Amino acid sequence: MASIIRHALFLVLVTVLFSPILFGTHNVVIAYDDLIKQQCHNAETPSLCIQCLKSDPKAPQADKVGIATIVINCVSNHSKTLASNMTELASKEELDKKLKSAYQRCIKGYALADKHLLKVVSWLKTGDYDKANSGVMSALEYELLCRASFEVSKWEIPSLVVYEMRVYEALSEAAFRIIDRF
Ligand SMILES: *[C@@H]1O[C@H](CO)[C@@H](O)[C@H](O)[C@H]1NC(C)=O
Ligand SMILES: *[C@@H]1O[C@H](CO)[C@@H](O)[C@H](O)[C@H]1NC(C)=O
Repeated sequence: MASIIRHALFLVLVTVLFSPILFGTHNVVIAYDDLIKQQCHNAETPSLCIQCLKSDPKAPQADKVGIATIVINCVSNHSKTLASNMTELASKEELDKKLKSAYQRCIKGYALADKHLLKVVSWLKTGDYDKANSGVMSALEYELLCRASFEVSKWEIPSLVVYEMRVYEALSEAAFRIIDRF
């Protein structure tokens, strides 16, 4: 039951917050290993999923769990990039105090998200796919909260950082769909 609620929550969040405008609609899936194409094919933005898998040389030999783990690693990498970008942004002297503390909350959120993602990797190994799925969602919630705090207050944040956030969300969604089909 709890998992159904989380599932519904996730879909609502994605529908409300996931904007296809940044990426255009479904990009053409480039020729690649069949399993990889098949795994990324249900994602909202297959191109980002495929780009992530291509960044790992082990992807062509990976099984389903391996594929999901690679996508989770990509999400984790994006959370680290975002934390580092926001650390830099928050360090600016002239920054509005509220914006600074919003960045700091986000930085903490990404660190917590990363902890969830680490657990997801071990849950994938042990075959606890429901737990893995809710772990992906917990990690995504930190990102959605972070982005919502900027949107509500209408603070300007660098567009490249906004793009990173969207990629994080898109890859979380891809991971969710991959694990959901196990
Ligand atoms: C994540 O980042 C690490 C360190 O920068 C890198 O070695 C690794 O290949 C990246 N993983 C993916 C899947 O992009
Ligand atoms: C974000 O951080 C990454 C890694 O530290 C860096 O390569 C990138 O240029 C940064 N982007 C912005 C917009 O600051």
